[in-house]
Amino acid sequence: MNVHEWIVKDHVEGRPDVERMYQKVTQEVDVRLADEEMLLETLYVSVDPYLQGIALDTPPGQVMGADSIMRVLEAGPRAAHRPGDVVQGFGGWRTHVISTGAAAPWQTGTFPMVFPAYRRLDPADYDDVLPLSSALGVLGGSGMTAWGVVNRILTLGPGHTMLISGASGCVGTLAGQLASRAGARVIGTTSSPAKLSYLKGLGFDEVLLHHQDDDPAEVARTLAEAAPQGIDRYLDHLGGSITDAAFSMLNVGSEVAVCWQWASQVGQEHTGPRLLPYIMFPRATVRGVFSMEWFTDENWHALRQEVGGLVRQGLISYDQSLHHGFDNIPAAYQSLFQDRAGNRGKVLVQL
Ligand SMILES: NC(=O)c1ccc[n+]([C@@H]2O[C@H](COP(=O)([O-])OP(=O)(O)OC[C@H]3O[C@@H](n4cnc5c(N)ncnc54)[C@H](OP(=O)(O)O)[C@@H]3O)[C@@H](O)[C@H]2O)c1
Repeated sequence: MNVHEWIVKDHVEGRPDVERMYQKVTQEVDVRLADEEMLLETLYVSVDPYLQGIALDTPPGQVMGADSIMRVLEAGPRAAHRPGDVVQGFGGWRTHVISTGAAAPWQTGTFPMVFPAYRRLDPADYDDVLPLSSALGVLGGSGMTAWGVVNRILTLGPGHTMLISGASGCVGTLAGQLASRAGARVIGTTSSPAKLSYLKGLGFDEVLLHHQDDDPAEVARTLAEAAPQGIDRYLDHLGGSITDAAFSMLNVGSEVAVCWQWASQVGQEHTGPRLLPYIMFPRATVRGVFSMEWFTDENWHALRQEVGGLVRQGLISYDQSLHHGFDNIPAAYQSLFQDRAGNRGKVLVQL
């Protein structure tokens, strides 16, 4: 059968240029399956900023990896899932996948890791309020990231001022709403005026317009105005000038979760103020986020119950921006970095 794939053509540092980076190819694939293998059809593909690092670590000529939702079309007698089952896993930018669905080591990466085994999704867990696609967003890896930051890294309560840089995406909006519910005063950043009102509508107490190229002195002044009592909790997605300013305002006992660093990953900004002195006297705790550590059956269940329950009760909201068609995957990905104003919440593609 013919399988369409987006392969990595060239490694491009910095802001992704999808024309140069990816190429569409069609492979004639032999679908005779080994006993443990499955043939799966891709239904949804997630696009995320961290794929910029995955692309750089993927040898040219190989398929672009990504989190996806797939339906099993055929399965060998000893396969992990049966035809008709729907699974979530790191299937990549391709229309079909032949795989055992077992956990797969990612060795070429700058940080070696293991992509988890495909997990079966129970159709009974999804409906009009939380459709199947939410298993890539608020009930998927992004939701687990926000849930894990709030439940496993940061201790949150009344009296805390929490800053979330790059707050308008699936992770930031959920983390902000959960932090608000815990009683914290939440400050978020976005670079788009339309998303400023959007975040306010979600209950953010203060929203700063911040773009990575802004003047650092101005960034520090605006942040000091928004957080006159200093910062107790910081969820960082951006790095760069907002992080430089935030660290200089950390209060005693503050906690920082480092989830992504737009400034160095995309912006190629590798120098800046030295931050370690700023964690010394406030005795701040800084912890990296690696959301896969929370991908356990128990936590997926908790995410569905806790976050899914709050969504169903109308107590928190989530959004997704659905793009359509295999051919549009690179454009959907590019929309994370360019003309982002139209995106809300999780960005994904329905094939
Ligand atoms: N460490 C982990 O385990 C882990 C797990 C999941 C996700 N992540 C990472 O966490 C981040 C947040 O995830 P998400 O799904 O919420 O991402 P997202 O939807 O792409 O949101 C990204 C945020 O960054 C902001 N941003 C992007 N470029 C910017 C620039 N040049 N200047 C200022 N702000 C900029 C966006 O601002 P606008 O409001 O202007 O659009 C938006 O608020 C992503 O980078 C993702 O890859 C890490």
